[in-house]
Amino acid sequence: MANTTQRLVAPPQAMLAGHVWSFSRDPLGFLTAAAKDYGDVVRLKFGGRTTWFVSDPALIHQVLVQDWRKFEKGTGLKRSKPLFGNGLLTSEGELWRRQHKLIMPIFHRERVESYGAMMVDEAESCTGLWKTGAHIDLLEATTTITLRIVMRTLFNAEPGDTLTISEAVECAQAEFARSIPFIIMLPSWVPTPVTPRLRRAINKLDDAIERLITVRRSEGSDHGDLLSLLLAARDDENQQGMDNKQLRDELLTLFLAGHETTALALAWGLMLIAQHPEVEAKLVEEADRVFGRGRPAASDRPALIYTAAVIQEVLRLYPPAWSVGREAIDTCQLGDVQVRRGEVAFFSQWVVHRDARWFYDPAEFIPERWLNGSTADNPKFAYFPFGGGPRVCIGSQFALMELVLLISYMTAHFRFSLSPQFVPDLYPAITLRPLHPMMMTVTART
Ligand code: HEM
Repeated sequence: MANTTQRLVAPPQAMLAGHVWSFSRDPLGFLTAAAKDYGDVVRLKFGGRTTWFVSDPALIHQVLVQDWRKFEKGTGLKRSKPLFGNGLLTSEGELWRRQHKLIMPIFHRERVESYGAMMVDEAESCTGLWKTGAHIDLLEATTTITLRIVMRTLFNAEPGDTLTISEAVECAQAEFARSIPFIIMLPSWVPTPVTPRLRRAINKLDDAIERLITVRRSEGSDHGDLLSLLLAARDDENQQGMDNKQLRDELLTLFLAGHETTALALAWGLMLIAQHPEVEAKLVEEADRVFGRGRPAASDRPALIYTAAVIQEVLRLYPPAWSVGREAIDTCQLGDVQVRRGEVAFFSQWVVHRDARWFYDPAEFIPERWLNGSTADNPKFAYFPFGGGPRVCIGSQFALMELVLLISYMTAHFRFSLSPQFVPDLYPAITLRPLHPMMMTVTART
């Protein structure tokens, strides 16, 4: 696909907007063509801002790992501060370091494993409502399951208890996605525009979370959820906890980052499995061997080897986070180009994961590639569904556990069939979503 020589000739652009409109019309097509036609480092212009679109894994490694201190989060995330505030995803510098240290322990392996049974409980109770032959909107179904899981993990609550939060989050997210083309064009000194609808959704959200935190603080008891752990977390140096504003930002960040991405991975995964009966047969055989007719447990994970390869392949072909951006706060020599302060380095998992230099038959769904050694010599950043370096996804183990348990449970108990005419049209907003509902017919396995 992309060639290694860097021809620093940019694709044609409109005078003032630069590449904004070509990019906004079809981001994945535009970026794939840019890498193919112009090489591993392509100069793009979004409004007045220079953006370097980089597809060389070694240079991606340099930005995310070696030189990470020379960069901050990219424009998209910076601009989402009205929603996320200064949570882990968007904060920088000392605040990020402090918060990362406080929050990291709640994602340790043993703690994540302790959520395994609850994850399968939620999948069991949602899928238990399905009748054989039922038509379901797959993404709606997987979102219901991951939403229930995140509600339990964060607040030990049923979605009904915190409906205001999930409704307001959805409204704020949709409103935000709509304004992305305008937002990326604005210079960084222009404040992010907040429409009255977005402001109302954010106010509603803030009120609901504030109430929840106030009740919990006054109760003082441990509910065994992440909110209890966040309330109890103390800084090593001054023994200070988080104030309500910081707690709100962290809760919302974990809530948003923690369920939509996983719901998408689950839906794309079940779609690919439905389209590949040979993969489905191997998954069912493995489930049968490992946990029979019952339910998978966290302790089964090491034995679910084929299932794990399926998930790696799903995240390669349909990465829910399909791009990562960074803004330079210091000059950085990146291969042959100098990235100046204020300029952006931008990478796309969608483009790199489908590069024939790293993956044979790159557009094909072949879980076996992760088991036959063909990916073993790839550079580290030929595959980065969870980002990398110090700002790597803090929930990656949580997500992988959820995906292994849910995919193996759901394929062991149900067959999913798509209409043969189904084409997965993509809507790459903040995450990689399907444009149309993914309607499936479910049949219980006897
Ligand atoms: C398949 C599921 C998921 C995918 C594909 C995914 C992807 C990512 C990526 C690519 C980043 C890095 C963004 C960047 O470098 O700018 C990230 C960061 C983050 N993710 Fe995830 N994520 C997933 C699930 C989760 C879950 C389950 C949680 C929490 C429960 C979570 C919480 C976070 C947080 C807090 C960050 C910011 C970390 C930091 O900057 O220190 N994610 N995620």
